[in-house]
Amino acid sequence: TITPVILSGGGGTRLWPMSTPQMPKQFLALTGSRTMFQLTVLRVMDRQHFAAPLIVANAAHAEIVSEQLAEIGVTDAIILLEPCARNTAPAIALAALAGDAPDNVMLVMPSDHVIKDEAAFHAATDALLPKVQDGWMATYGINPTGPETGYGYIQMGPQIEGGVHEVKRFVEKPDAASAAAMIDSGDHVWNGGIFLFRADTYLGAIAEYAPEMGSAARLAMSKAERSGNQLRPDHESFAACPADSIDYAIMEKAPKVAVAPVGMGWSDVGSWDALYEIGNKDADGNVSSGAVRMDASRGNLVHANGIRVSVHGVDDLLVIANGSEIMILPRGTSQKVRDFAKD
Ligand code: GDD
Ligand code: MG
Repeated sequence: TITPVILSGGGGTRLWPMSTPQMPKQFLALTGSRTMFQLTVLRVMDRQHFAAPLIVANAAHAEIVSEQLAEIGVTDAIILLEPCARNTAPAIALAALAGDAPDNVMLVMPSDHVIKDEAAFHAATDALLPKVQDGWMATYGINPTGPETGYGYIQMGPQIEGGVHEVKRFVEKPDAASAAAMIDSGDHVWNGGIFLFRADTYLGAIAEYAPEMGSAARLAMSKAERSGNQLRPDHESFAACPADSIDYAIMEKAPKVAVAPVGMGWSDVGSWDALYEIGNKDADGNVSSGAVRMDASRGNLVHANGIRVSVHGVDDLLVIANGSEIMILPRGTSQKVRDFAKD
């Protein structure tokens, strides 16, 4: 079986005013009745294929995680609670060290993505598994739709077998000119942020490319406190761990990496504009959730939480209302949120 590792420690300010440091986007129900964290856990519920999931989250969110797991009836998860955020490479190291067998295959997933075609996702995992069991690291390739600079880019080499390619080069968050050049080349895909590898493969890569991170994570886990299904790595040791993402620390450097390009209806829901794109539109092209009244309006995204919003005669707006905060922007300008979210 495969052990799902669900990364839920991100801060996520790009969906302000709904997401806040206390309630980051993975814990919000933005696309339906389930939160993105819950949808991620539910994606790997088949215990024939997947072992109990390992959740890696910030200790500040311990209660939210437990409540949201209880809501979907998941009782077998192990919850690793980070005392501080050190980005994804150390978070995954903790998970690799928490497993019982060194050759455990880990499916590392962000908790804040949407995958519409789960069958395609599972098929890609099956296709990658032989290489992974052989000691390779594997990624999921997304067909790029533009020169975005917020993603990792993967240059695909020759096909190895069954839709799986060798990775020539992995470039995390390129500048705009390099991103455009890679899009034009036609042999690049986006990194979906999902990874598959054996725990010992990952720990070996950490030992080679980020040894200080490896020893700090090891020390933190050796002094971890366990209570019920919660595991708390030692604060002092983990605080001393260098912070870096798996993409920069490992994937750009690792030699044996495979990628499965997969059309699975992936979106990383990184902005209100992205949520409009993937949302269910009514006959006028509006997407709404919560207590919303709308007429004579087209192409709007209106999200209301804890307040009723009434909209008339306007087009192509993002209207986001959460308690005492309301934000109104033209669609296409949702990057402005970063400024608002600062204070
Ligand atoms: N446990 C834990 N601890 N989780 C974390 C931490 C941490 O310190 N930091 C981030 N995460 C979680 C986030 O909640 C998210 O689910 C996931 O790890 C990825 O982190 P992001 O911060 O969202 O990464 P990114 O979006 O900048 O880039 C990654 O994803 C892109 C696709 O969405 C990279 O893998 C890119 O290469 C990729 O294209
Ligand atoms: Mg992200």
